[in-house]
Amino acid sequence: MFALHRARTLIHLSDQGELAMDVISLLKADHKKVKDLFEKLEPTTERGIKTGTEFFRTLKEALDAHAYIEETYFYPVLEKSKATHDIALEAVEEHAIVKELLAELDELPKDDESWGAKLKVLKENVEHHVEEEEGEMFKKARQVLSDDELESLGARMEKAKESQLKQAA
Ligand SMILES: [Fe+2]
Repeated sequence: MFALHRARTLIHLSDQGELAMDVISLLKADHKKVKDLFEKLEPTTERGIKTGTEFFRTLKEALDAHAYIEETYFYPVLEKSKATHDIALEAVEEHAIVKELLAELDELPKDDESWGAKLKVLKENVEHHVEEEEGEMFKKARQVLSDDELESLGARMEKAKESQLKQAA
C-alpha cells in the first residue's frame, strides 16, 4: 500500500486537471529527450548538414531551457541545504561548460572539421552532468525537499520551460 500511495504522489493532476510532474520526473524526462536528440544528431553529422542543423537547433533549445529552469528554480533551493549545497554549485559550473560548447558549436560552420569533435565533447559533458544529477543530486534532493515541494517546483519549472521554448521558437 505504501508503495502505491507514494507512486501516486509523484505524478498527480494539477488544478487545471493536467498531468503535473514533480521536479525530478520533469528533469529526468528532459534528460531522456536530450539523449535521444544526441543519438539522432550523431549519424547526421556526416550525412546531411541541413538535418544536422535542425537537430542541433532543437538540442540547443532543449539544453538552454533545461539549464535555465534548473539554475533559476532548482539549484537555488538546493544551495540552501548543507547536503545539496556543493553538488548544486558544481552543477552550475558544469552548465557553464555545456553552454560555452553550445555557443561555440552554434558559431562553427557545420562542415568544419572540428564540428564532430566538439559535439562529442559536448555529449560527454552532458552525459557526465546527467549521471551526477540522476545518481547523487536527485537522491539527496528527495531527502531535503518534501513531496509537496518537489511537486510545486516541478509545476513552476514546467511552466517556465514552456514559455522559454515558445520564446526560442
Ligand atoms: Fe542540468
